[in-house]
Amino acid sequence: MSFNSKNYYELREAFEKKHLDAAAKAEARRHALWEKIEGVREIDEALTLTASRIFGAALGGKEALEKRMAEIKKDTADLRDARAILLQKSGYPADYSDVKYDCEKCRDLGFVETKMCDCFRRALILKGYETSGLGALIGRQTFENFSLDYFSGDDRVRMKQNFDIVKNFAENFSKNSTSLLFMGGTGLGKTHLSSALAKVVIDSGHDVLYTSALNMISDFENAKFKGEGDTHRYFSAELLIIDDLGAEGNGAYTESFVYNIIDTRICKGLPTVVSTNLTAHELSARYGERIFSRLFGVYQPLVFCGEDVRFKK
Ligand SMILES: Nc1ncnc2c1ncn2[C@@H]1O[C@H](COP(=O)(O)OP(=O)(O)OP(=O)(O)O)[C@@H](O)[C@H]1O
Ligand SMILES: [Mg+2]
Ligand SMILES: [Zn+2]
Repeated sequence: MSFNSKNYYELREAFEKKHLDAAAKAEARRHALWEKIEGVREIDEALTLTASRIFGAALGGKEALEKRMAEIKKDTADLRDARAILLQKSGYPADYSDVKYDCEKCRDLGFVETKMCDCFRRALILKGYETSGLGALIGRQTFENFSLDYFSGDDRVRMKQNFDIVKNFAENFSKNSTSLLFMGGTGLGKTHLSSALAKVVIDSGHDVLYTSALNMISDFENAKFKGEGDTHRYFSAELLIIDDLGAEGNGAYTESFVYNIIDTRICKGLPTVVSTNLTAHELSARYGERIFSRLFGVYQPLVFCGEDVRFKK
């Protein structure tokens, strides 16, 4: 499990703030009670003294220590009861000024000792969706709503195989997963299965970046020519999904950008999923031997076939 580190640090900060805010809000409610209900302030001040009373009792030697402790305990309980009654009489719940955390388990710190709390893990996954580049597609195009009924005959057999391979890829994703190449005409579910797999891989705690080839190339152009933005996640995301390779412009550097990403990720052993409408022949003609041999030598090609689902739906 290795989440996007920027997300991780941003969330740690946000959680720390949430933890402190909860205490500050409780303090504000306490002060409001002092204003509204006579006697609460005095009780609170007496309660604050409890800690120093315990300390004093402990310093007073072992003799009759238990008895003195019991007295303090009783006084504290009496004060609490009196306070609760005052609050309730004025229509407030007894715990009105207690610190309230969204997650009582970790007190909004995100961690219980050194163990990550479930609430923090959930927040990381949500942030993973946000930074995946998938936007609204996430959760909308899923394995569950991918239907094989749009396909018939041999196409259906082939698409069932593709579906099983992609689902298996998503459910067992690891650094050692084989990269995939989705090939096939328009409207056959390449993007659909890409977003379906992205969600499952993010849910299992991995950093996923989805991009269209068009956006990816423009990110690289902006970085190269304008010094703007940064392209580091293309090389660091545990899974990169490049959709619609071939639909990007034909800029002078396109091929070298594509080569750099594909080659670097292969060298680092990072899986990639590439989709394209181009045939093997067109890929070879457009991107040259170096890219072609990597795509077909290292990636597992899946051929999507059938009739455009966009028209059938
Ligand atoms: N088998 C399927 N079951 C349900 N919906 C599907 C299926 N295949 C495709 N769709 C839907 O059809 C539309 C087009 O599919 P998708 O965008 O995945 O096609 P594509 O192969 O990426 O096409 P393109 O090459 O034009 O990008 C989407 O709304 C998608 O959710
Ligand atoms: Mg598509
Ligand atoms: Zn928690």
